[in-house]
Parts: sequence; structure tokens; C-alpha cells
Amino acid sequence: MHRYPATALLAAALCGAFTTAIAKVPHLAQHGTATQLIVDDKPFLILGGQVHNSSSGSPEYFDRTVTKLVQLHANTVLAPVTWELLEPTEGTYDFAQLDDMVRTARKHRVKLIVLWFGSWKNGVSQYAPAWVRRDPVRFPRAHDANGRPMSALSTFGENSRTADKAAFTALMQHLRALDEQENTVIMVQVQNEVGLFESRDHRPEANSAFAGPVPQALLNYLATNRGRLTPHLEALWQQNGSKERGSWTEVFGSTKEGNEVFMAWRYASYIGDIAAAGKAAYNLPLYANAWLASGEPGKFPSGGPNHRVIDVWKVAAPAISLCAPDLYADNFKEVAATYHRPDNPLFIPETHADVWYKPSALLLHQAARNVFWAVAHHDAVCFAPFGLEGQAVGGPIATSLKLVSDLSPVILQFQGTGRMEGILQTEAPKAAASQLEGVKETSGTKSDCDIALGGYVAHVLYSTASPDERAYGLIINTAPDEFLIAGDGLVVTFSSATKREVGFAEIWEQVFVDGAWVNGRRLNGDQTNQGSVVQIPFWRWDNFDTATGPRVVKVKLFTHD
Ligand code: DGJ
Repeated sequence: MHRYPATALLAAALCGAFTTAIAKVPHLAQHGTATQLIVDDKPFLILGGQVHNSSSGSPEYFDRTVTKLVQLHANTVLAPVTWELLEPTEGTYDFAQLDDMVRTARKHRVKLIVLWFGSWKNGVSQYAPAWVRRDPVRFPRAHDANGRPMSALSTFGENSRTADKAAFTALMQHLRALDEQENTVIMVQVQNEVGLFESRDHRPEANSAFAGPVPQALLNYLATNRGRLTPHLEALWQQNGSKERGSWTEVFGSTKEGNEVFMAWRYASYIGDIAAAGKAAYNLPLYANAWLASGEPGKFPSGGPNHRVIDVWKVAAPAISLCAPDLYADNFKEVAATYHRPDNPLFIPETHADVWYKPSALLLHQAARNVFWAVAHHDAVCFAPFGLEGQAVGGPIATSLKLVSDLSPVILQFQGTGRMEGILQTEAPKAAASQLEGVKETSGTKSDCDIALGGYVAHVLYSTASPDERAYGLIINTAPDEFLIAGDGLVVTFSSATKREVGFAEIWEQVFVDGAWVNGRRLNGDQTNQGSVVQIPFWRWDNFDTATGPRVVKVKLFTHD
């Protein structure tokens, strides 16, 4: 093997011959009011795909899956690394799965988010290695209300916590050695959809802890953030007298909702401890994902980071940078809003890829529309449909991911500035509107949504072609009197707060050529309803250019009295 003499190495290092700038490790940073992920020293918008649970279970299958995700325009793959494969024998770590995943992501030039399936996945413990699951004495299970052991590990299992922490720390150490300079892995999810299918653990130790005092740190947080807590937690606390000390039932009541707060403290403390150890080994942003609350605690995993108890997670797990919704609910806008907070950027690690279990019209092509709302209205850090690999190349979600990805430099520039807004029609269309009918309506003052930006109000009329479609998109005030509009099913006019008349100076179709947005067609005539509106699609009766889906337009305005 050829070796450089030591003196030559020293000289080369001194004159900088070997020094290449090494980017900082991926981290979160503030940009105006937005929190963004910085990767390779630049803001990065995660337009990802979360693979099916077993898709990283063999190198060949993972390669096939990532190949498909790239065809669907995902820039990031979210995929499991499992405790059972990492530590098949107690104390012996095997990093083959992780090494292969990193190699595959690099080969396909995508980023990777590692999902650590450790003590819990979807409320149960099937990813804990067999040596853990077969020994309920060392690794105790949670108990149900009748005192019977459940299949899930208990948060009171100190040996479970220690073993999971050691494995996760080893994973993070290995990742650091492997990837600190390349930054292929940009974030790590710690566990998956945790919580108990019982409102609380009824093990004897759990019963004593539950009868004991609420930790002072949580009580201090409640008192300091009185009036700003999540409405659910605030109400629970108030209904029980807003106490500043007491047992769990005294402070939060003796209901299943009170039990949930206790479990949130337990899961967040356990996971926060594991996360802190992993972060000390390699300082990547870590997050926890939630099975959303619906019905009573225990029907959904009780104690997971759902929006009602995020505050508890913030106190108990400071090493977890954010709580993330697995957003399969139909009320996308409402759920997204509950997770977007000054201390918690919106990060959607799972959502319907397209048609899901319920093939209702409303769910059809949902992700293809919702991504615009997430990144523009909520300054989202990540939007990643689940099982994306099953979607069609060139289909609606692929088209949206490509367009949003091509727009991402401008989206990232305007996140957190108050100069960008999302558009998302959620209600059914009033009538199957034709574009021409829409135009007639906008010539009055009526619109479906008004957006104030840059001294103008954009009046947006939803103009979808069929009752199954919904309008969506985004609008950015890119410069004085200039707007970029992207989306579909839109008819837009502008008014000014100070001037009587607003006119369109120029309307340009935007096309993405060689990595940059440039002017395509100058739009006028039928494509703008004789210069009176911006509309996407430009003209429904054009049977020459039949491509459907979102488009991008740049508009320059003028005003006069
Ligand atoms: C939510 C979980 O977090 C995922 O791992 C997966 O099981 C999906 N549900 C879909 O089944």
C-alpha cells in the first residue's frame, strides 16, 4: 500500500491542500418566523417518501424501493432501522442494515431519515429483539386495567430503557463515524407511534408513581405557560383547580384523559433519555411521531406525542426537537395547525400517499394538494407520504413533488417572511364550476379566499373542473408588484388597499429548464380571459397542450387611481 511520508502529510495539511470545507452536521435553524432544516449548510425542504415497514428489510428490496422513490421525485427516504436486526444477540451490534441503507441512499443521491424501531412501534414492541421479548422478568410488560400483562414493554422497565439506550447510542456513534462528513442521514426518528392501548399502565410500580406527586418540572411549565398551553391540557388543568402541586389525579383528574397525561410523561421521559444519549453521540435533530388522538386514550396509543400533550413532551424530552403528526386524518388543515407552533415546526413523516384505505373522492390525490399547504402556509420542514413507492410514476403525487421540489429554493427563501401563503380548498365545490363561470364571479367582489400580500389582496376563486377535484397551490410576493402563483384550479384577481385600479402588466408561464425557472409563454388573450385574471389551467379547451396538474405563473402588476 502506498503511504505518504509524515512530513509530506504535514506540509499538505498546513498549506491547505487537503482541506475541503466540511459542512456542519444537519441542524434546525430559525429563518424569520420559520424553523428550517439546514443540510450541507443550506436550508433543505424534505419532500420525502416513507417506505413500507419491511422495505429496508433486505438490501435488494431497499434498492428497488429507493429506485422507485427517486422516479417519484422524493429527495429523502424515511426508512426503519430495527433493534431486532441491530442487536440480534444481546450486546453484539450488527450495523449491516444501516450501512447498506446509507450506501443505497448515496448511490441514488437522496437523503435518508432513519426511523429507530426500538422498544415500541405502533404502541407495541414487536421490533424489540427476541431476547428482550422472551424475558418479561428482565424486560417487563405494561399491565392493563385488570393487572394482566400486555404485549407492550412497560415504560417502567429500567432494563428495557438501558438496553434500548445502549443500542440507540451505538447506532448514533456508528452513524457519526460513517456519515458526519457526507450528511446523507439528516434526521432520526426515535421509536414509532408510541403509547399504550390502555389509558395507563397498571403495573404495581406504575400505580405507585401515579399516586405520587406530579414532577415539579411539569408543574412549573404549566404555571409559566398558563394561557398558552394546548387547549386540551389547559382545560384539564383548569377543571381540576390549576393546582401547582399534587398527585396526578389531583392535578389532572381521575379520567382517562388524566391518565394520558401521566403516560405522556412516562413515554417522553423514557424516549427523551434515549434521545439525549444518542444526541450526545451524534448531534442530529431527533423527532417523535404520533398516532393521532381520536376517541378515548387507550383506543389510540395513550401517551404518544399527539397534539393534546405536546407540552408534556416538550418538558420531559428536550432532546426531541419536534413532535410530528402521522397525518392520515381527513381534517388535514386542523391537524397541521395544531402541530405548527413556535417551538415545533410542522414535520409530516407520514400521510396518505394517494388513494388510501378509504377510496372516497375527498381522499383522492390528497397528498398532491396538501403538500402545497404544508410548505407554504405552515412553513413545513418535511412532507412525506407513507408507502410512496406504491404510487404511479408521473401520477399526481409525483407531479406535485417534482414541482414543489423545483420551487423549493424560492419556497425556502420566503418561508417565515409573511410573503408566502398556501391555498387549499377543503370544502366540496359549490357547483361543478366551469372556468368561464368562475371568471364571471371574480369580476364582482366574490372570491373563495382572499390573501393579503405585498400591499395587494389576491382574490382566489376555486375553479375545479369536476366535483371530485379541489383547488390548491401557493402564492408568493417575490418582489414589489410581482407574484409567483403555483397550483391548479385557480382563478386569481388582485385589488389594492390604496389604489383604485390594479392591472396586469405581464403574465408569464414559468418553466423549469436546466435547474432554473425561466419565462415560458407570455400569457394573454383566452389564457388570461382577455387580460382580466390569472388562471390555472390557462385554458381548459386547449386540446393541443393536454398536460394536467399544477402550473407556475409569474405576474407583474401595476396600479393607478
Ligand atoms: C402508521 C405507522 O407509523 C407506520 O409504520 C405504518 O404502520 C402505517 N401506520 C401504515 O400502516
